Amino acid sequence: MADRDAARRGRGGRGSGGRLALVNAGAVVTGPPPGAPGPVRFPTREHLGIRHGVGIGVEDGRVALIASDDEVGEWFHAGVPDELVDCGGRLITPGLVDAHTHAVFGAPRLDDHARRARGETYQAIAAAGGGILQTVADFRGRGEEELLLLARGRLAWLGALGTTTVEIKSGYGLSLEHELKALRVIAALGAQGPLRVVATFLGGHELPPEYRGGARSREAYVRLIVEEMLPAVAGAGLASFCDVFCEPGAFSLEETAAILGAARERGLGLKLHADELDPSGGAELAARLGAASADHLGAISPRGIEALAASETAAVLLPGTLLFLGAAHQAPARALVDAGAVVAVASDFNPGSSPSGNLPLMMALAVSQARLQPEEAFVAATANAAYALRLDGGAGRLRAGESADLVVWNCREVRELAYWYGMPLAWRTYAAGRPCHALEPGISSPG
Ligand code: NIG
Ligand code: FE
Repeated sequence: MADRDAARRGRGGRGSGGRLALVNAGAVVTGPPPGAPGPVRFPTREHLGIRHGVGIGVEDGRVALIASDDEVGEWFHAGVPDELVDCGGRLITPGLVDAHTHAVFGAPRLDDHARRARGETYQAIAAAGGGILQTVADFRGRGEEELLLLARGRLAWLGALGTTTVEIKSGYGLSLEHELKALRVIAALGAQGPLRVVATFLGGHELPPEYRGGARSREAYVRLIVEEMLPAVAGAGLASFCDVFCEPGAFSLEETAAILGAARERGLGLKLHADELDPSGGAELAARLGAASADHLGAISPRGIEALAASETAAVLLPGTLLFLGAAHQAPARALVDAGAVVAVASDFNPGSSPSGNLPLMMALAVSQARLQPEEAFVAATANAAYALRLDGGAGRLRAGESADLVVWNCREVRELAYWYGMPLAWRTYAAGRPCHALEPGISSPG
């Protein structure tokens, strides 16, 4: 029993030594073919790697083989059989990769939502005690265990919606003590599994209240990030990336460059919340710094589009955020793809601007609101999202020998993932071979 519990705790995959076989799939989507491990520019159906008549064998948390159902059946019975799943004609894909969330927080911000519906502005909502600083005050008042418990429940939602890898940012602590608390919670989520977790330090999310209008200045807060937070975060190995909310009213281009320059010296990858509401040059800065991604981009300029297209920096689009905020526009997804940028789609799951971690819903919005093709939206939530996190090891793709992160969907073809918007489409989710979700309702479409 103790062994079994230990096996379930770590992201160690199927610890029993038993074999899992998935057969009778309608199609298996493996992602871009071997030999093309990088990002996908100009995605087409060819990049999906759609295979028919094949099943998948899983052992020790990894994909052991992708082969004909007969071969998978033989392999299954030649070892210690654990579970044989008849997929009943359903679609199998790599687990989805959510490359941008703020999933560790306490209370929801229900008042912000109601106030926006009354037409109140961002500034008015913040002045009334809402906005990011409300979540910061709430976060500082909660203990690590409680935040972990809340976040575990929320990640279970994501697993049930087909996500197997999730990036999570700090940024509701805004002090050394509370940013480290956030990052420890994120580390614990990754250690417990089953989802793969990537941690991002976002000390530059907002100016904390104690640095506003008093003796302590904004320069002092940027210094605190650079001189105290970053050394502590990097020293403890608590983050892979450093992000900054680069936006007039949050952090300027100069402040962002100072923070990210220091982060790079500490060995962290770079990310930016860029050009969300105003075209301030955040995308160009991201490209110039060689950031892993520039995220949001609702107000990116034509020069910003060119700069990203010519760079290795992924454009991470968050269509749920603009929708939930009631904005009339979306990021220029079509122009970004057509210019040759690496485009990913993520949820931005957070209590203020996007209280949803439903990535298939975001894919549907990317199609209906931002004019991506369904195949482009799929690549954006798998291979390109993994690239935005600079992950290999099977994230966003299915490969023999790599982590068995996969979803069996209650539908038959890949375009349906961005079609049945908001519906509970994931039938079974496996992260590193561990089942993290199972749903019973029948399949969506006739065979
Ligand atoms: O990505 N833009 C800044 N940060 C978040 C919002 C966080 C919040 O409102 O709590 C975002 O949308
Ligand atoms: Fe965000």
